[in-house]
Amino acid sequence: MPNLPEVRGLTSVFTFAMVISRSWAICERTGPTILHGPHQGAQKSASTHSSLFVVTSKSVSPVSTTLPIIPPNPIDCLSSYQHVCFWFGQIEWIEYQHHFLMNMEITPSILTADFCSLGETIDAAVDAGIGWLHMDVMDGNWVINRTITFGPALIKSVRERVGNEIFIDCHLMITNAEETWEQYANAGVDMVIAHIEAVNDFPKLISELHTSGVQSGCVLNPDTPVDGVLSFLPDLDLVLVMSVVPGKGGQSFIPEVGEKVRVLREAIDSQIENGGRETKLMIDGGIKDHNAALVADWGVDIAVVGSGLINNQATVRENLDSITKSLEI
Ligand code: DX5
Ligand code: ZN
Repeated sequence: MPNLPEVRGLTSVFTFAMVISRSWAICERTGPTILHGPHQGAQKSASTHSSLFVVTSKSVSPVSTTLPIIPPNPIDCLSSYQHVCFWFGQIEWIEYQHHFLMNMEITPSILTADFCSLGETIDAAVDAGIGWLHMDVMDGNWVINRTITFGPALIKSVRERVGNEIFIDCHLMITNAEETWEQYANAGVDMVIAHIEAVNDFPKLISELHTSGVQSGCVLNPDTPVDGVLSFLPDLDLVLVMSVVPGKGGQSFIPEVGEKVRVLREAIDSQIENGGRETKLMIDGGIKDHNAALVADWGVDIAVVGSGLINNQATVRENLDSITKSLEI
């Protein structure tokens, strides 16, 4: 059972928590749940109002819906919830805040956009609440299908269109990131993500990026073992696990990368616990509303979504809504 020191100080009543198994998975991954204070824990007021917030170290965000429960027998009430994992104290009254969002950000890849109306598509994404854009750069050489997407000129136009509030990364699927990253920095990206398989001296690249005020990311192909990145993980702002072979949008998700994601999650969590950098964990390829919750469970901070967000079936907002809904627990 998680350790709940703060709750012992509350004068009245409580509590139960971890209502759905996915919440428990988050708890298990991120360590003990801490309940405290009016907005970050469980508290009961003098009146009929009480609320329950479950907070883990990854800060699950509660949303506004509340479901009041007036149990004649609180224990019965609790046992009617299959996923309640613990409770203690004398329970008099519970309002169960039953919707929580798994804390994973979504960033669009624009590869499936109609480039003639790219500006409008990006506006629609920003209007729908997107705060991070993922720009997939391919040079006609490095990816297996030898395709070309776009380069710094288009990224510069996107930056000018969205202003400085939106975070932009560029995912460089190119042979010479070490020689050309500065062009992307000058185009206005906040972060350069380069492939570990395509860079000779990654620590040097990180240091050059940081000197220029650009964040550094390292990406691993689905078959690339995780070991190579661990030595410089403390200096990375982001590590990206590819869940498709780089080259195009719309491919099928490779679930076997889950093990690698878990190893990285643990390494990053222990790095953060020891006062180190809060390196972000990203996944890219084949993410849609049917598997977004799965990768959020693995501990991914940011998921790149291309064809699941920009397609002919629905608007960006509708697609984003359905992904967000899939992250409700
Ligand atoms: C693959 C790219 C991805 C990809 C995402 O080479 O890096 O960003 O296009 O698109 P979906 O979500 O359609 O797999
Ligand atoms: Zn990408």
